[in-house]
Amino acid sequence: MKNDRSIKEYAKLQYNSHENLTNRMNLWSYGSNPESLPKWIFSKIQLQENERILELGCGTGHLWLENYRNVPSTCSIVLSDFSQKMLTKAEENLSSLNLPISFKIIDAEKIPYGNQKFDVVIGCHMLYHIPNIEKALIEISRVLKPSGRFISSTISQHHIRELKDFLSEFGLYSEEKLNLFSEFRNETGRDVLKPYFTEISFEEYINHVNITTLAPLIKYIESMYPKKKYPNFQEVKPQLENAITNILEKNYKFEITGIVGLFKAKKLINS
Ligand SMILES: C[S@@+](CC[C@H](N)C(=O)[O-])C[C@H]1O[C@@H](n2cnc3c(N)ncnc32)[C@H](O)[C@@H]1O
Repeated sequence: MKNDRSIKEYAKLQYNSHENLTNRMNLWSYGSNPESLPKWIFSKIQLQENERILELGCGTGHLWLENYRNVPSTCSIVLSDFSQKMLTKAEENLSSLNLPISFKIIDAEKIPYGNQKFDVVIGCHMLYHIPNIEKALIEISRVLKPSGRFISSTISQHHIRELKDFLSEFGLYSEEKLNLFSEFRNETGRDVLKPYFTEISFEEYINHVNITTLAPLIKYIESMYPKKKYPNFQEVKPQLENAITNILEKNYKFEITGIVGLFKAKKLINS
């Protein structure tokens, strides 16, 4: 049974520092897809001159860091996150680039702007951290102009399947872990968006990673188990390291498949 409080508490713990996210993003840099995920997502947003953009849950700001050369200077962009630490990191990453960006602490369940202010709202890999997604979608739709678009990325239920299977052998991946996320995946996102948005399109992005050394993989795994919530993780860690080392010795690689999805949608008038 999903519990709203534990979903939010987990998100707060997980993003109390930028390191968990940074370690997870690092793993994908070993992937075979020649186009990075932020580059791919940015190409789908199709920013126009003079647009007003709000990004919710911007994390470390990589969407803009990797695409800063293609941001029209006439746009006006608000990068936001509910975590002060993440927003500070985003600001640190972007402040020298002279982009038309301002930064603001925002919880997506309560957006502090009037109606119809933005042409584009972006929420990448973040809706599943929101206990009351419907509340956030009503807010997103409210702040979008009548022709506004919502861009949202998420993951497939088969994302990192090989890693989940491996972690299950150590009792680390279970129903309990799934209950720390709201339902918004590649497979279910369209139904979640449908009451508030129209013209919903969906595309998938796949990145196969062959990890050949222990460090990036163990850091990725560790990032999934914040110490405060999983105090026992450190006891299992040596066993995981041994098992991964054995796999690397035998197969020379640990394969992981990332399956991400991107929904683009238009505001449903009268929603
Ligand atoms: C998985 S990270 C994704 C970061 C970034 N969008 C990306 O794709 O790299 C999720 C982000 O959403 C933020 N977040 C989680 N719940 C939130 C909420 N209710 N309102 C605003 N931000 C939230 C977290 O602090 C974190 O920075």
